Amino acid sequence: LAPAATLAAPPQRPVAPGTTTLTYDSPFPADFVFGVAAASAQIEGAAFVDGKGESVWDRFARIPGKVHNGDTLDVACDHYHRFDEDFALMASLGIKTYRLSIAWPRIYPNGDGALNPKGLDFYRRLFASMKKHGITPWVTLFHWDLPQALEDRGGWTSRVTVDAFAQYADTVVKAFAQDVKHWITLNEILCFTLLGYGTGSKAPGRVESAKTVNQTYHHALLCHGHGVRAVRQHGGPGAIVGLTDNCSVAVPVTEKPADIAAAKAWFTDRNAQILGAMQAGKYPESFLKRVGADAPDVKPGDFDLISLPTDFLGLNIYSGTFVRAGKAGPEALTHPVNYPRADSTWLRLVPQSIYWSTRFCHEVYGHQALYITENGCGYDDEPVVNGEVTDLHRRDYVRSHLREAHRAIAAGVPLKGYFLWSFIDNYEWEDGYQRRFGIVHCDFKTQVRTPKLSARYYADIIKERRIL
Ligand code: NOJ
Repeated sequence: LAPAATLAAPPQRPVAPGTTTLTYDSPFPADFVFGVAAASAQIEGAAFVDGKGESVWDRFARIPGKVHNGDTLDVACDHYHRFDEDFALMASLGIKTYRLSIAWPRIYPNGDGALNPKGLDFYRRLFASMKKHGITPWVTLFHWDLPQALEDRGGWTSRVTVDAFAQYADTVVKAFAQDVKHWITLNEILCFTLLGYGTGSKAPGRVESAKTVNQTYHHALLCHGHGVRAVRQHGGPGAIVGLTDNCSVAVPVTEKPADIAAAKAWFTDRNAQILGAMQAGKYPESFLKRVGADAPDVKPGDFDLISLPTDFLGLNIYSGTFVRAGKAGPEALTHPVNYPRADSTWLRLVPQSIYWSTRFCHEVYGHQALYITENGCGYDDEPVVNGEVTDLHRRDYVRSHLREAHRAIAAGVPLKGYFLWSFIDNYEWEDGYQRRFGIVHCDFKTQVRTPKLSARYYADIIKERRIL
């Protein structure tokens, strides 16, 4: 990490405390969106039904040792066949907004080329059911289930994937322009690029050079741009679009000005490659200096797409890194072993992450509409006892994180909504079915759904629009 002195000073758009009249116990603003989220590959199942093509995760899950317990996505929550009952349950809990994703290999089994009409039919039926139950969709175009056929042609390392995504985005946005008004281009670029091609812990499980990994980021940014373009061209009146990013979150160790400035500098430096590049319309100097000869190849016109204006920024916030002002610049601290966490080892419990991530995104990049598109916690073994799952730990997670969302709004941060991850226990990628994030319990043997205590708790919050 570069010392603070060498970092470009972030633009100053300080939040203006006192611009809202929200006090500790006030309800959330009337237009604040409370939702839940999930993703196609993690819940649908029906992995080889009705013409769906193989995804990189279908392939990866079958490589011994890659996924906990060798779990596959073949059945998952069988949402493909049960979406109507799932939406009925959602509606019964008062949940009116649901973030889902479309499975690219259902629409184009080979990534591009021949369209699979049954894929479009499925989502048509799904959106009709949501409408019937009074639930508004927020749709992510890509949530990690890349068609394996594209991976066979280079996957995210190749511009073939960019062209294929452009076609896919055009098709989907055109097909559902009447049903969908809230679009998200991509989910968490860092995860499907760095972890898919750098560390290899996620599909397709490749370990490539830094240069290649940086190129995968660049291709993903181009796809984001095509997603924005597709919504502008085909989304129809009232359609809005943004990216969902899992930015690196810096939480100042104390809220003294020096620590806040250090955290902000660290945040700006760490997020230069995606959020910084999108805002600046080029790769920031600090990033280019760091990567040197490993910088991605950029073609003329690339940044015209990448920096197309968006309507909002989605943030998936689960945890954060503590930062303080050190002698040589910002100092990021490693969580000590005893620091509380969920069962996911990376999920350290740092509720202030919500406040500082949204505040810094607003101050540094000037975003005027921010949504927490995911926030939640994963734990193992949450058995149903006497018809109940008393997940008080999740109730507390939701409460403490919403408290920080409320605080951000009170401080003048334009935070407009919150989506809890996840509606139902699902396929947690390489952690398989053992790691449960749902507010609804799923018995993966019987497919019986049981709302947990946290679901009832969140339902009450949605109803009263305040923290309970
Ligand atoms: C972020 C991802 O978008 C989602 O797919 C995943 O299940 C959650 N984090 C929890 O790890």
